[in-house]
Amino acid sequence: MGGSRIERFTCTYSSRFLAVREIDEDLMSTNSIDSLLHESRRFPPTAEFSAGAIAKPEIYDEAKADRVGFWADQARDLLHWHKPFTETLDWSGAPVARWFGDGELNVAYNCLDRHVESGNGDRVAIHWEGEPGDTRSLTYAELTAEVKRAANVLAGLGIGKGDRVAIYMPVIPEAVVAMLAVARLGAVHSVVFGGFSSESLRSRIDDASAKLVITADGGWRKGKVFPLKAAVDGALAAEGSTVEHVLVVRRGENEVEWSEGRDLWWHDEMAKVAAEHVAEGFEAENPLFILYTSGTTGKPKGILHTSGGYLTQVAFTHKNVFDLHPERDVYWCTADVGWITGHSYVVYGPLANGATQVMYEGTPDTPHPGRWWELIEKYKVSIFYTAPTAIRSFMKLGREIPDGFDLSSIRVLGSVGEPINPEAWIWYRDVIGAGTAPIVDTWWQTETGGIMISALPGITTLKPGSAQVPMPGIKIDILGEDGTRVDPPQGGLLVVSEPWPSMLRGIWGDPERFRETYWSRFSAGDTWKYFAGDGAHVDSDGDIVLLGRVDDVMNVSGHRLSTQEIESALVSHPMVAEAAVVGAADEATGQAVVAFVILRSDQEGAQTVDEASTILRAHVAQQIGAIARPRQVFIVAELPKTRSGKIMRRLLQDVAEGRELGDTTTLTDTSVMQIITDKLN
Ligand code: WT7
Repeated sequence: MGGSRIERFTCTYSSRFLAVREIDEDLMSTNSIDSLLHESRRFPPTAEFSAGAIAKPEIYDEAKADRVGFWADQARDLLHWHKPFTETLDWSGAPVARWFGDGELNVAYNCLDRHVESGNGDRVAIHWEGEPGDTRSLTYAELTAEVKRAANVLAGLGIGKGDRVAIYMPVIPEAVVAMLAVARLGAVHSVVFGGFSSESLRSRIDDASAKLVITADGGWRKGKVFPLKAAVDGALAAEGSTVEHVLVVRRGENEVEWSEGRDLWWHDEMAKVAAEHVAEGFEAENPLFILYTSGTTGKPKGILHTSGGYLTQVAFTHKNVFDLHPERDVYWCTADVGWITGHSYVVYGPLANGATQVMYEGTPDTPHPGRWWELIEKYKVSIFYTAPTAIRSFMKLGREIPDGFDLSSIRVLGSVGEPINPEAWIWYRDVIGAGTAPIVDTWWQTETGGIMISALPGITTLKPGSAQVPMPGIKIDILGEDGTRVDPPQGGLLVVSEPWPSMLRGIWGDPERFRETYWSRFSAGDTWKYFAGDGAHVDSDGDIVLLGRVDDVMNVSGHRLSTQEIESALVSHPMVAEAAVVGAADEATGQAVVAFVILRSDQEGAQTVDEASTILRAHVAQQIGAIARPRQVFIVAELPKTRSGKIMRRLLQDVAEGRELGDTTTLTDTSVMQIITDKLN
């Protein structure tokens, strides 16, 4: 092991990505991967489930026979087109795809009006539950009416096709109304998760030159109101902002500062406008939204999605992966609308399919640890979609809590955000799914827009710990370092080998970074391969087992964080001379942020180590948001570096995870690690 380790360190940090040979050595040598690849438990679908399932086995063959034609069929079957398309895919501008390029549609009309027009206006679209226990149910007719008014408000504020609107809100129905109103006008939303700091909001508003911000006074979380409007005020404080107006929804009832002329109450404006609004068709490639996500460098990337292809794939996957029967199912995805899961599987997928869903504002443990299960019982939720980190934290609390509620309505369970360990998978199925509900482990990314790899309930024989099979119409390969396919059970890097409808169309304002990040690794000539940044194995059954990121991106509670972004936040503090951040394995959150910091020499001794670490943890939370707050900040005298001066994060990860250190002979100064470990002990 020693020899390969040295090589691994040097390779890891001298090339941008882990070499595949190294991934193999590294991952194959750990017991967990070994046991994943030899997972022997199998859960075939029941005959009853298969008989009633939406997805029929033939779709795999249909998609294989004519991949592009398959997507054209889905686009026609699942959506309403103001102007039908005649051209399905234009890949001549690769790596920027055009799907259904000469067609026109209105995304909001597809999510709203058409359900009302087809006689389903009285179906509940959203059963919303506020954290304090207040509730609202909105039918499709009511939601459509709200969105029409909101579209009129926005149009009155000068918002039209192509304009960017930032949305910074709690999980309340108005967040959905705001997104759909923007979409209805052919404008572009940029939703910023309400847990992000004022600073993060500011950089996103500026990057997209947003004209309008839609926010709330505050939202409920853990029994308290967290202020949102104040963060918007902070983000707009600097001169020269492109923002003309701020629309504020009354939710927290907390005090807010008011900037006359700029700030407007949502309820005042909604009362002033006409109720009717006719949805116009926009071209299929009209941008729908920008969503920022962390990459390997400090600056978040504005991932751009467009309309027709995106809506086709999220509607198709939502219907087939979750076996949605809209007339009888009650669906609940626990994601915040500020993440891609909230965009695709709270807003666009479910509403395009006319689903009835539950939306919950608060945290799972407020006011008691059974809140989620209480909601499942109350609304008779039949399809439940959440993240492994949540499942693991419920496991820790014990099954007595969910056992205290009637969860018999559950018939499909979904998982997303990170690999789900087999123990959590089995617990999820046994305790939440009564030992019978199929679990779909869905692999995808902000960039892919929709689900790419997942079992299909009623078809796939399930295997814990593996996302299993590409969706029909999706071509995935696991490649070795040299770009050739690796054979099972070897590991490699996951690529998408053919364009897909909901693929990102770029990084906002940065076409070079788009090509470089995703397309430079394996593309050659006319062959374009999308590099996802994940390592994966194919097991002997041909199932795909995901192994996590191979770049400097961490996955904390299913959320993506960049080590560099947090390092930049740390060094922005006057106390800090140098910082290194690693993602350390964490039982509850998958990975946790651990920072190693060298203080400036003039600061040494100014605070105790504990004080400094507390200050810096708070500083990161204030700079980026609470999700980025390091679990630990270690104040150290030196950081381990290679001879070429790169910080050896992998070594720090060993320290952070409490492992014995490997061979450190490539360090410039081998005493460094001794100093670090001594300091920690
Ligand atoms: C990264 C994307 C997809 C919405 C939520 C996260 C990891 C996601 C799985 C899964 C293993 C997964 C990958 C991916 N990931 N789902 N089912 N199994 N890993 O979206 O923030 O864009 O992060 O999350 O590493 O690259 P995101």
